[in-house]
Amino acid sequence: MESLVDGYLRHIMDNVRPDRSGHVADYIPELARVDPEGYALSLCVHDGHTYSLGDSATSFTIQSVSKPLTYAMALHRYGPEAVDAKIGVEPSGEAFNEISVDDRRRPKNPMINAGAIFAASMLLPSRRDVDEADIDAAFTQILEFYSGCAGRRLEMDADVYASEKATGSRNRAIAYMLDSFGALETSPDAALDLYFRQCSIRVTTEDLAGIGATIANGGENPRTGRVMFSHEIAQRVLSVMTTCGMYDGAGDWVTSVGLPAKSGVGGGILAVLPGQLGIGVYSPRLDEHGNSVRGVETCEHLSRDLGLHMFNVTRESRVTIRSVYDLTDIPVSADWTDRERSYLRTCRDKVRVYELQGDLTFAGAESVHRRLLSDMDDYAAVIVEISRLGVVDAVARTMVLSIKRALSDTGRRAALVDPDGLVRAWVERQREAWTNPKDSAPVDLKGFDPALPHVHATMEEAILDVETFLLKDAYDE
Ligand code: DON
Repeated sequence: MESLVDGYLRHIMDNVRPDRSGHVADYIPELARVDPEGYALSLCVHDGHTYSLGDSATSFTIQSVSKPLTYAMALHRYGPEAVDAKIGVEPSGEAFNEISVDDRRRPKNPMINAGAIFAASMLLPSRRDVDEADIDAAFTQILEFYSGCAGRRLEMDADVYASEKATGSRNRAIAYMLDSFGALETSPDAALDLYFRQCSIRVTTEDLAGIGATIANGGENPRTGRVMFSHEIAQRVLSVMTTCGMYDGAGDWVTSVGLPAKSGVGGGILAVLPGQLGIGVYSPRLDEHGNSVRGVETCEHLSRDLGLHMFNVTRESRVTIRSVYDLTDIPVSADWTDRERSYLRTCRDKVRVYELQGDLTFAGAESVHRRLLSDMDDYAAVIVEISRLGVVDAVARTMVLSIKRALSDTGRRAALVDPDGLVRAWVERQREAWTNPKDSAPVDLKGFDPALPHVHATMEEAILDVETFLLKDAYDE
């Protein structure tokens, strides 16, 4: 059965897929040839679990999505002060390939080509007479670093590299302009060569989601546990992705999507929800800024439908399961006969209680959901206690409530303890809307199963509810 999160992602993709506007990049034949219909989405959450849909096995060249990674490498090698002296951090409000620098003759930021070529140059030896072996050595480090972030061995596409190198006049102009200022400590041709190679590395959306989750996680890849860079570097990279990642559309992007991101002309977009998850989207038709049309739209949906805007303010989005216990130490309700009570005593360990805490948003609800499903063999009924939750946003509420749907096929009972009525009133409204469709109130996330768990005001009521279920089960047998 399709998981709840897969269902959400599929729903978003179904909404976005019909948009065939934009054009695939055609400045080199390798990019012009790709299937324009290709579309993939991957989401890697804080523990490395990855959801992937669509053409997630299709690889494409990373192109400008490489820029934050090479910038991270330069920061790691020289430290922020030395890098700041060479590359600014101000959004340029210009196209990615604008031939521009600030009044200190620094590239305005590392996300436009001038800054990215400069960052690549910093990975080469600080002398003019670099040779092929020096470029190879620097590129080996780049490939090693990108692979570590993705959690998988990546490779370069030799044909794309050859074409990039043969056609990159504009980039050559940028590198030579920087060189004319005396800014480069190495050969401009070598810097360009390295930049073309990094742009030609092939990735999938799963790779981008893994890279995103590594940045979200402060530099540690959640799949492999490998630490690739420091928290400080992650913070810096997220900052420039936020302000400069989407070029001249950066302000709109932060407002409407609110996820630090980087796009590439290969059709990929990498987006990050700091502290929570990484997203990779692929669709090769581009808008006038060089951003994937469907990629942008998919991110807009993810942000809006799943509440992933980074300023969707929460207190504790990860620490959502406060404690887990069974009913062994809790007396059987007094309402039952002696016979029933002695039966119920034999199945106290079959009822699991999960107490949640903090503010619940998509990421927290996703991990609670997955935990409940993976523990399923250990219980016959589950009670989810939500009295310590603060804010529960719309998608998290739907996810908590859909626990019943996830369990019902296997004959298990799900009950919710909601003393403050955090979700009870909403449940009542939804029930009313479903049973009385004529004057239906707005139904969140239309198309999802209306099966709702049993919501109780107290733990005692919830225990009575699951005891009734267990007894009924016993009588049925
Ligand atoms: O610099 C270039 O021309 C390309 N190889 C990469 C540019 C790119 O991906 C811009 N992003 N949207």
